[in-house]
Amino acid sequence: MNPVIRQATFGDLGTICRLRLQRTAWLTARGSDQWTVAGHGKPIETFAHAVGRSLEAGESWIADCDGEAAGTITVNRHADPHLWSPCELEDAVIVHYMIVDLRFAGHRIGHHLLAHAGRLAHDQHRKWVRLDAWTTNTELHDYYRRAGFQLRRIAGPLATGPSCALFERPTASWYHPQLTGVVVSGSGGDPR
Ligand SMILES: CC(C)(COP(=O)(O)OP(=O)(O)OC[C@H]1O[C@@H](n2cnc3c(N)ncnc32)[C@H](O)[C@@H]1OP(=O)(O)O)[C@@H](O)C(=O)NCCC(=O)NCCS
Repeated sequence: MNPVIRQATFGDLGTICRLRLQRTAWLTARGSDQWTVAGHGKPIETFAHAVGRSLEAGESWIADCDGEAAGTITVNRHADPHLWSPCELEDAVIVHYMIVDLRFAGHRIGHHLLAHAGRLAHDQHRKWVRLDAWTTNTELHDYYRRAGFQLRRIAGPLATGPSCALFERPTASWYHPQLTGVVVSGSGGDPR
């Protein structure tokens, strides 16, 4: 399944919030506190405000499969305080709010979204695609490793949020996959 990645508009805010709620319930059913308020995740209203700002800035994207929103990603240059150093922020784009609709799980939509982040990093002459993942969700960490990312570190001690597992992948690796040293099954390497 090859989605078309298009820029998200304000009309997509409801869909993005629905995806967040859908996946939070999925995570809870799997025994994870990722994104729950109890686990210090953002309440949905706070999430909606944050996504609204990203939509305004043109930083959010939708993976469109035959006119259906199959997933979303936000890519910008900002991260929560005390996660990445100023130098690390300067040479990277940062991925946020990547979510794939459960109806489209297993179709590698996430890999297309991450390749899009790689393309944006390339276009903006940024050497790295970086993200923070939920600290305690080791299955999610495994997902990012399979997607060619490496754990840089667990942020601390000043970073106190629940999402402190810092992952990164070199932008060039989307064009030259051997650079990661990680086998990314079926990644397609070049996102173009
Ligand atoms: C991460 C995500 C966008 C990847 O989408 P995708 O590339 O289309 O991949 P899939 O949804 O098919 O998931 C691939 C595998 O990773 C696992 N996985 C993905 N996110 C996970 C999570 N947050 N916690 C535990 N396992 C997760 C899936 O269970 C699946 O495992 P399986 O192959 O054994 O069934 C999607 O799984 C998702 O929306 N996850 C929940 C939200 C999330 O954690 N986003 C990342 C925030 S940093």
